[in-house]
Amino acid sequence: MNDRFDLVVIGAGPAGYVAAIRAAQLGMKVACVEKRPTPGGTCLNVGCIPSKALLQSSHVFEESVHDLKAHGVIVGDVRLDLAQMLKRKDEVVGATTKGVSFLFKKNKVTAITGTARIEAAGKVAVLGDDGAVAQRLDARNILIASGSEVTPLPGVTIDEKTIVSSTGALELQAVPKRMAVIGAGIIGLELGSVWRRLGSEVTMIEFLDRIAPGVDNEITKHFQRSLEKQGLRFRLGRKVTRAEKGKDGIVVTHEPAQGGAAESLTVDVVLVCIGRRPCVEGLGLDKAGIKLTDRGRIAVDAHFQTSVPGIYAVGDVIDGPMLAHKASEDGVACVETIAGQKGHVDWEKVPSVVYTQPEVAWVGKNEEELKAAGIAYKTGKYPFTADPRSRANNRTEGFVKVLSDKASDSVLGVHIIGAEAGTMIAEAVLAMEYSASAEDIGRVCHAHPTVSEAMKEAALAAWDKPIHL
Ligand code: FAD
Ligand code: NAI
Repeated sequence: MNDRFDLVVIGAGPAGYVAAIRAAQLGMKVACVEKRPTPGGTCLNVGCIPSKALLQSSHVFEESVHDLKAHGVIVGDVRLDLAQMLKRKDEVVGATTKGVSFLFKKNKVTAITGTARIEAAGKVAVLGDDGAVAQRLDARNILIASGSEVTPLPGVTIDEKTIVSSTGALELQAVPKRMAVIGAGIIGLELGSVWRRLGSEVTMIEFLDRIAPGVDNEITKHFQRSLEKQGLRFRLGRKVTRAEKGKDGIVVTHEPAQGGAAESLTVDVVLVCIGRRPCVEGLGLDKAGIKLTDRGRIAVDAHFQTSVPGIYAVGDVIDGPMLAHKASEDGVACVETIAGQKGHVDWEKVPSVVYTQPEVAWVGKNEEELKAAGIAYKTGKYPFTADPRSRANNRTEGFVKVLSDKASDSVLGVHIIGAEAGTMIAEAVLAMEYSASAEDIGRVCHAHPTVSEAMKEAALAAWDKPIHL
């Protein structure tokens, strides 16, 4: 007899594992099928968590080499122990994925290792490593949370040794002398920064004429200048056509984005990070009659239901920003709806953070989007140079920008570049979720001295006038 569940979740990433736990909390009998040996998906195993571990370690290294003198701290010869750095990263990943296994047990979620294939509404087959069906599950509801994978680039074959995706870039056993990064998006900027801090000469080749697509233009300009000062090199408006082994390393051939004379660059390691695509292969979507969008993601309605009743999808495999916290919110809202409650996620209010130094964080609309939409807005800016805690911390780079509606003062977007931008953005998200005005943020009491006072001052600047500028 098949095993019977109220909900079978496919994929144990931030979308799937969080949905499985929440569904169990709501009283459902839940199974979660995952093909990796450990839960946590891309994010915990080869994404958010290991990349942040390396960003932190490489930041500590760089700070020890360059920034301690200003504080009056003199250290001896600072050296890199890359093996220890990678070991610490693996330990952080191990502790985090173990935490998910613990939560599954605590909430009585049945964790199944194998590859799930939908046979029909209510029927899931679990395949073993040999591709044969190892188990069949009956499900009142099915939730697809299969996530995303690296988008390949024609002419550039990833071997995860010298031509790597983000996964290989988290595992390099030696610091490459020369590194080329294809794509100056979030992965490129974060992992390019890690290896640059550890000693690589990093050149980033980007198709567009700007870095970090989606980021407010004014912030991007500041961001690029700052990264260039740190030593990252950018070749913008260029597309890579080939990367092949040559005599002296990997030869990367690139040309102007609109076509033209080709140039080449020889490096030791190439990182390919030109975006991610949804994982839909092998799920049995065709047979089940599940429709895709024009962009190849699974099409869902406002309640995350696919074109087939009883089959839902959440996270990177559907539309919206490909971010872990968005994936988890999708998962919670979806299972709460299945349980008869009212789940909803506003993708317009999902924050984004680039964990470089300075960090860049934003929520809501940027100036270009507001102009394109013809919305009249006010701008309030406050630089960290004017913030006393930032001065005390010796971290005065960057600013906070609050954009509010010209007529109602309602906050439309907040954009930050600064040392603690990622932590600071949470206040802006909360404010926007509760439809706050810039005046509301400006009148809230912020602890002194904290860098969050820069948010208050930028909000006061958007509403009327800042006090400390
Ligand atoms: P995933 O995490 O991809 O999980 C899907 C899971 O489903 C996978 O484990 C996969 O093995 C499994 N699966 C797929 N098909 C099947 C099947 N048929 N049967 C069984 N299992 C299956 N986001 C952030 O918000 N912050 C960050 O700092 C951040 N850093 C990142 C750094 C890197 C290097 C990368 C690559 C991504 C990063 N992301 C970050 C993005 C984040 O990892 C994703 O948005 C998030 O993991 C999406 O969650 P998900 O559950 O939808 O998919
Ligand atoms: P991305 O979409 O952020 O950036 C890809 C970049 O590659 C773009 O700037 C694009 O113009 C460029 N590009 C595309 N084709 C190219 C070509 N042929 N030659 C040169 N450049 C080319 O994608 P990325 O960096 O791969 O990250 C994928 C996703 O993972 C992100 O969009 C984000 O959703 C998630 N992520 C989030 C992180 C965070 O929240 N801190 C960290 C890392 C990843």
